[in-house]
Amino acid sequence: MTPLIDPFARPISYLRVSVTDRCDFRCTYCMAEHMQFLPKKDLLTLEELDRLCSTFIGLGVEKLRITGGEPLVRRDILTFFRSVSRHLRTGALKELTLTTNGSQLARFADDLAALGVRRVNVSLDTLDPAKFAEITRWGRLPQVLEGIAAAKKAGLRVKINAVALKGFNEDELFGLVDWCAGEGQDLTFIEVMPMGEMGEEMRLDQYWPLKDLRARLAERFTLTDLAERTGGPARYVRIGETGQKIGFITPLSHNFCESCNRVRVTCTGELFMCLGQEDMADLRAPLRASDSDAGLEAAIRAAIARKPKGHDFDYSRQRVAGQVSRHMSHTGG
Ligand code: GTP
Ligand code: 5AD
Ligand code: SF4
Repeated sequence: MTPLIDPFARPISYLRVSVTDRCDFRCTYCMAEHMQFLPKKDLLTLEELDRLCSTFIGLGVEKLRITGGEPLVRRDILTFFRSVSRHLRTGALKELTLTTNGSQLARFADDLAALGVRRVNVSLDTLDPAKFAEITRWGRLPQVLEGIAAAKKAGLRVKINAVALKGFNEDELFGLVDWCAGEGQDLTFIEVMPMGEMGEEMRLDQYWPLKDLRARLAERFTLTDLAERTGGPARYVRIGETGQKIGFITPLSHNFCESCNRVRVTCTGELFMCLGQEDMADLRAPLRASDSDAGLEAAIRAAIARKPKGHDFDYSRQRVAGQVSRHMSHTGG
């Protein structure tokens, strides 16, 4: 088997699969309040999603991250986890994990851990219940905190992903850091990307460059850059005083695309070769055209052969450039 290598010599070993575009929250930077969701009939079945993932694993994908929307609101999602987890046991898959808003973790954490999930990334931008309700529109903080506690009780490592939002969670920087230190959780900050239909002015208003956030952290803490790379876009620092590791994902202020190792599949079988570009390949048609995987494999290889160099997100001219019209919930982050 020839591994998947893109035109810029980047090996593709990481697949992110969005299993649903639906979510029980409506985070203001991610979704419109009244979203038009896909009709159920357009969705790949869990069996089809499994076949798709298995085909990628056969082509050398070693890390699978399940995303959404909110992945845990997809009906029968455990059936899917149970089925793909067989690839962990054969050793073909090194990691099976998910990115979640945490709302359903109390219900699923034990089962996920039993199936071989070792860690989860939970999106959480604030620890203030009122602000949490404001930013997620429909979410409630205690439910997420219970979910995180359940995950840890089940033995899962938790990483908190916080989108850095000017005027929103700036004042909580140290609160979030201290909380994660106390809870033994990793923490990563993300710059807000121009995806979906939010107006240009609002996007620019909410952009908090992570170099500013970092400078603020350095006022109180000793920061040491770590060489460590997970293959993901995050760059890490160690906080001397607490020993904790903080990640920075900086699509706007520092482009990390040269080491990109990932592609994304949506719940309808669209393969996006880049989070920040519109080009995609339909995998549903080849998947449904034949029981043999040959056509599907050929479609995947053809798509990887046109993986773009990177995104074009840019706010530097006081304008939003490189905007992508689909919402983050469509591609799964
Ligand atoms: P680990 O390193 O395995 O913890 O995962 P990760 O950082 O790849 O996954 P996670 O789901 O925590 O990613 C966090 C967020 O970073 C995503 O939701 C996106 O917003 C952003 N991100 C991840 N990968 C990319 C990428 O390839 N391009 C861009 N522009 N943003 C990305
Ligand atoms: N920019 C950056 N991150 C975003 N997320 C959702 N929308 C955006 C955006 N426009 C984050 C969520 C979650 C992950 C899936 O993506 O907060 O952590
Ligand atoms: Fe749902 Fe995550 Fe989007 Fe919030 S960011 S609306 S939790 S998919």
